[in-house]
Amino acid sequence: MAAAENKRPRISSGVEKRPSRKEILERKKAVEELIRKAVAVKDQLAHFPAFHKYQRNDLTVYLESGRGDQLTLPMRKYIQNLLKVNMEKPYGSEWPSEEKVKRREMVAPEARYIFVKLYSNGLITENSMKEDEGVERIHAACSEDRLCGFVHYRFVVEEDLPVVYVYELQMEPSAQGKGLGKFLMQLIEQIACKNQMGVVMLTVQKANSLAMAFYTKLRYVISSTSPSRVDPQIGLEKSYEILCKPFDSEAKSKLEDGD
Ligand SMILES: CC(C)(COP(=O)(O)OP(=O)(O)OC[C@H]1O[C@@H](n2cnc3c(N)ncnc32)[C@H](O)[C@@H]1OP(=O)(O)O)[C@@H](O)C(=O)NCCC(=O)NCCS
Repeated sequence: MAAAENKRPRISSGVEKRPSRKEILERKKAVEELIRKAVAVKDQLAHFPAFHKYQRNDLTVYLESGRGDQLTLPMRKYIQNLLKVNMEKPYGSEWPSEEKVKRREMVAPEARYIFVKLYSNGLITENSMKEDEGVERIHAACSEDRLCGFVHYRFVVEEDLPVVYVYELQMEPSAQGKGLGKFLMQLIEQIACKNQMGVVMLTVQKANSLAMAFYTKLRYVISSTSPSRVDPQIGLEKSYEILCKPFDSEAKSKLEDGD
């Protein structure tokens, strides 16, 4: 890729040294190996005891890991319902087709989850749930599990970089604004660093201004791979932005600076 070539290490004369085919292949193999290792970890959460429990803002919850190919039927129903409640509006007319895509993505073997579960004395009450008809349906489908949100993430390669891609971050309406979204994103960033992924990436609908504000607050920036930065004209036609938070210099240079 032409843009990537500009950022290769320079030799002392100041002339750019293009990586050899061998170096490119070795780099590709190293990235694939990082992904393979990360995917093989059974429970990413196990490495982060500080993230097992969250007790703040009248909320007491615990976190649990999951995989797309091991979701129970009530969990699948819960995810589908919460996605509909939260995302139908921001997607607008794109929702019916997007919903189908999300249903397939949900159960993929590569999908990794962190579920947020309420302790039985958690303070999301029956009354507050009834304020939202959609959420009531969620709990009807999954009353025993007492879920109140989740994050779906994957280890992938983007722009030749090892990446944690956040596919979904979803809190029930009554669990929003209590710091849980930030807590989960902090965990995702820790998981990324521990597994030597250089960056966390995600896609946000432009119409989802609350999510945009949330990620901006967490210092996510529009990636150089987002349509609006690739070509402003194409950007206008697209309904989404790709955001990123790079951790190493290569990811920063490629995705933040667009070199
Ligand atoms: C977007 C979402 C994940 C955020 O999670 P949350 O638990 O509600 O947010 P938090 O309470 O953790 O907020 C974290 C920080 O972001 C800020 N923030 C949250 N929403 C904000 C908003 N709309 N505008 C400005 N700042 C906001 C908070 O003030 C907080 O800042 P602080 O740490 O200085 O107090 C959650 O609201 C949600 O599930 N929304 C519906 C689904 C969705 O849109 N998901 C994202 C799809 S890409």
